[in-house]
Order: sequence, then C-alpha cells, then structure tokens
Amino acid sequence: MNPLHETTRIGRYTLRNRLVMAPMTRSRADETSGVPSELAVQYYAQRAEAGLILTEGTFPAPMGKGYVRTPGIHSVEQIAAWKRITDAVHAKGGLIFLQLMHTGRISHPSLLPDNATPVAPSAIAAEGKVFTASGPQDFVVPRALETAEIPGIVEEYRTATHHALEAGFDGVELHAASGYLPEQFLSSGTNQRTDRYGGSLENRARFILDVLAAMVGEAGSDRVGIKIAPEMGFNSVSDAAPQETYPYLVQRLSGLKLAYLHVARTKSALDYRALLRPLFDGPFLHGGGLDRQSGESLIADGRPDAAVFGSLYLANPDLLQRLSTSAPLNSPDRDTFYSAGANGYIDYPTLDEANNRALRIHAYGAADVVSTDQIDAPSVASDEVLVRVHAAGINGFDWKIRDGILQDVFPLRLPATLGIELAGEVIGIGSGVTQFAIGDRVMGTLGGLGAYANRVAVAADKLTRVPANLSDTDAAAIPVAALTAWQALFDAGELKRGQTALIHGADGRIVSTAAPEIATQTPPGKRGVWFQMRVDAQRLAELAEDVARGDLQVTVSEIVELSEAAAAIERNKTGHGPGKAVIKFR
Ligand SMILES: Cc1cc2nc3c(=O)[nH]c(=O)nc-3n(C[C@H](O)[C@H](O)[C@H](O)COP(=O)(O)O)c2cc1C
Repeated sequence: MNPLHETTRIGRYTLRNRLVMAPMTRSRADETSGVPSELAVQYYAQRAEAGLILTEGTFPAPMGKGYVRTPGIHSVEQIAAWKRITDAVHAKGGLIFLQLMHTGRISHPSLLPDNATPVAPSAIAAEGKVFTASGPQDFVVPRALETAEIPGIVEEYRTATHHALEAGFDGVELHAASGYLPEQFLSSGTNQRTDRYGGSLENRARFILDVLAAMVGEAGSDRVGIKIAPEMGFNSVSDAAPQETYPYLVQRLSGLKLAYLHVARTKSALDYRALLRPLFDGPFLHGGGLDRQSGESLIADGRPDAAVFGSLYLANPDLLQRLSTSAPLNSPDRDTFYSAGANGYIDYPTLDEANNRALRIHAYGAADVVSTDQIDAPSVASDEVLVRVHAAGINGFDWKIRDGILQDVFPLRLPATLGIELAGEVIGIGSGVTQFAIGDRVMGTLGGLGAYANRVAVAADKLTRVPANLSDTDAAAIPVAALTAWQALFDAGELKRGQTALIHGADGRIVSTAAPEIATQTPPGKRGVWFQMRVDAQRLAELAEDVARGDLQVTVSEIVELSEAAAAIERNKTGHGPGKAVIKFR
C-alpha cells in the first residue's frame, strides 16, 4: 500500500490518509469584514480528501491581521462563513483545523482598526515591505506590548478557539512560525523584553505556552496543534541560538499531549526534523518542499506521522489521487497565490477534468476555431474500449476539416473533437469485447474523430496492440491519413517492404495522396466511408509489426503538449515537415 494512504492518529481523530494540506494564506476574503468568501467553500471542499486540512492563517482578533483580504474568526459573520466551509469539508468526510495567525509587527496601520500601530514584544521594526491595499509599504516600528496587555492577547486566542469550534472546526493550530507574534516572542532578535516574557529562554517561550494553555483549555489538548519553522528567517525574524531554543520549546510542548507538532522545513543546514522528532512525544507532521518521492519516503521511513504539502496542494485539488497513481501534477501559479477571485484558486483541474480536455473545432474555415475544451467523459458501448490516450498524431486532416476543405466529405457536427490516430492504454472495456484487457497498450484509429480527447471510447476493431518495442509517440505516428496513403501505395505496388516511408512527410506523393484529392477523387456514394474502408485493425497490426521490425520507419518530427497542439496543427498545415507531429498527453 502506498504509505500516504495509511491511516494515522492525530489527537482525537483518525486521519484517513497521511496527506495534510498546509496552511496557506490565499487573500480571497472580504477586505473590510474579514469574512471568508463563498469561493473558499469550494476551494476547501475540493481538497477535502486530504487526511487533514489546515486552513489559511486567520486572525484571532482585528489587531492580528497582517495581510490584505485575509479572514478573521472574531465576528458572527466570519464564524457563519467558516461554518459553511467546515460543513462542506465534513460532507466529504474530511477533517479541518483552523490556523490562528496573529502577525504582530508584520502588519501595517492601514490594515488595523483605527490605523493602530501593530503590536510586538519589542519596538523593533521588521525589515522589508508589507503589502497594503495601496501597495507595498515599509514596516513601521511596532508598539511594544505592556506586560499587563499580554493576558488580553492570550485571551483573544482562547476566544478565537471557542469561535473556531463554534464554526465546526475539528481543531485549531497555533501559527508559531514565519516571524509572526508567537515567534517574535520566542526569538531573541525580536524580543528584548525584561519582564517575564523576555530574556531567558524560559521567558521567551512563555507567550507560546500561555497561548497554547488557553487554546487547550477551550478545545482540549487533543484538538490543538502548533506549527514551528526553525530558522526560517522569514519576516526578518532571527534568534541567537535556534538550536537551543527549539529543542527547549519542543521539550516543553511534549508534555502537553497536543494533537500534533507541525515542523516546516526551512533552508537551515541543521536537520531539525532529526533533532526535534525524538523530543516530542506525540504525532509529528512534517513538510516544506515535499514532492511525490520525498513525501512517500518520509512516511515510509516512519519519521513523521503525516506529510504536509503546501503549494502542490494548492495546485492539485486531487493531490492524493495524483500522488498515488503517479499522475502528472499541475504546477502552482505564483501570480495567483494571493490575487483576488477564482482564477488560480478554484480552477486547478483535477485529473478527471484534465483527462477530459479535448482539442476541438467550433466552426469551419476560421483561424481561431481550434480550442481546448472540457468534454464529458465518454461512456463505453458494448463493442468499444475506453482508451486513455498517451499520444495522438497531428493529421493533415485536422486542418483540412477545420478549414472546411473536407466539409462535404466529413459532415461534422460542431463542435467536434479533432484527431484520428492514437496510442494509449485500455482503461475500460465494453461487455462484448474479448480481445483486450485493462492495461493493454493499444494503437489505432477512431474511425471517426476524438483522439485529442485524453480519454476516448473506440470501436475495438479499430485498435491493435502496440508492439513492446514501439513507444507511444511512434505508435501514434503511424497515421491514418498516411496509412491510407501507404495502403494505396502498397496496393499499387509503389511502396515495397523494406523501403523507408516518411510518415506524413517529406515525400510529396504521400501527402498529395491524402486530403484534397479525397474530396474530388472519392467516388460519389463512398464519401465519408472511404476513410473507414481503408483502416482495419489487422492492417494496422501488420504495419505496426513492420515498424517494430524496422522494415518501415516512423519519423516523428516533433512532440508537443496538448496546449501547443493548435499551433502544431497550424505548422503542419503549411509545412508538412519531414515527419509526423505527435501530441503527447503525459
Ligand atoms: C501561498 C502560500 C501561502 C502560505 N500561507 C501560510 C499561512 O498562512 N500559514 C502558514 O503557516 N504557512 C503558510 N505558508 C507556508 C506553507 O504552509 C508551507 O509551510 C510552505 O509552503 C512549504 O511547503 P511546500 O513546499 O509544500 O509549499 C504559505 C505558503 C504558500 C505557498
């Protein structure tokens, strides 16, 4: 079993898998009210298959806000909006903890009530800029909290925990990393206090421990976690001796029976996971820069109990499925990390959605009629198999159809999916099909259109097995149009076994045998079936064997991604280069 799929225990909960979605600020909440948007309901629900979701950093009280369009958990409206989110996640069987984030000095008067000055342990400004509604601004010198004010801040965390539970959260996480208020107290560079919250290590850790005690008092220790990221350096926080500070803190945390300790990896040369793991008696979450392999091996090694994924989770709502099936991953788009709106937030496709993307034509004869659309997953008829297409050949037919040249030969209902040749893998079988099994590598023709959809239902008798030594792209490059041309040449005795045929290419005769003439040379009454008459699985199998043996040579001129397919079709229209262009799907 993939180790990420195993269950694990976090506090009072059993996680159904060991994948945790990292807390990530996404700046989609209402700027004035701090109410999470309706989009957030969808965003979190899309990712509910995670063993545990940690929400974006959320301010416990208005003075904790540090970024535009971040959400809070202090007002009735905020609690109600969060409730819709937790309901949506629970409806899908997920678990969700709210991350409490008080940014302390990493804020700006324009983000705070009555233009208040941000608060911090000491009056030391952070270096760098803060992003405000009116653009980046210098950090201001914060106001050092009076000792007597600190219980009030701790109380805000307690109230926020209460509100989080009211909003249906399964627990709460204290954000004690990234240079925000708790880490400002912990770190010697930002804490120069001389009261019981500053000076000694014990005193600098006191704020975090007080806050945790308040949160635990409200939720119980088994619903409270904490995130730390030693030596992250983010927001110009620094500590003179982090290798002493963090072991001390973790030892103090260890006795608290918390739901978990969450350690985010930083660029530090010191392996804090190795240092801290033995010191904490309880579930351990670890993340930061994980990919498929490191996530799995981390869990397999038994070092953390769960692996935390941030940016990859943001970009892959179905990350668990993708990781466990070795599927390709969407790349995170940094430009939309913190932008407003749905773009880059709820529109990352799942594998299923991506699989159903198809290159289609919408009208005849115009330049911009080719587009990549979403299409419904096909169902399989009794004589068909469902093929996950790995590669499809770009065919001269495509643009001729697109440009209307074959309009009267190929009467298409538009929009239509382009593409004719394919190579891929059988992922579904109609009840009447006996010659193929799930997982078989197949190549063939659609006898119709649709190869550029990533999953297509194809008549089984239009497919043949791909010889073991043929790649998907080579298999897809044995093209129908040229195949029919070959057949014509074979039939006419012009092309002999052992000769090299440049598929769809340099040899003008082959190309000229293909499309325009079909419209004029196909006998009346045979139009539209000419193509199908010529292609059958047996002929394809023979050709594939010829290619596999080296008797015929496949020349692939270029391999392009689906997103580049329209342009490649355009190139093929004019160029007819020295080989076949193939679209690759993975
Ligand atoms: C867009 C974005 C926003 C983030 N916001 C937060 C946050 O609100 N709270 C937090 O603890 N960490 C935040 N992080 C850090 C992540 O939780 C995580 O530690 C980091 O991204 C490293 O993991 P990754 O390499 O898997 O992305 C954020 C990261 C990203 C990419």
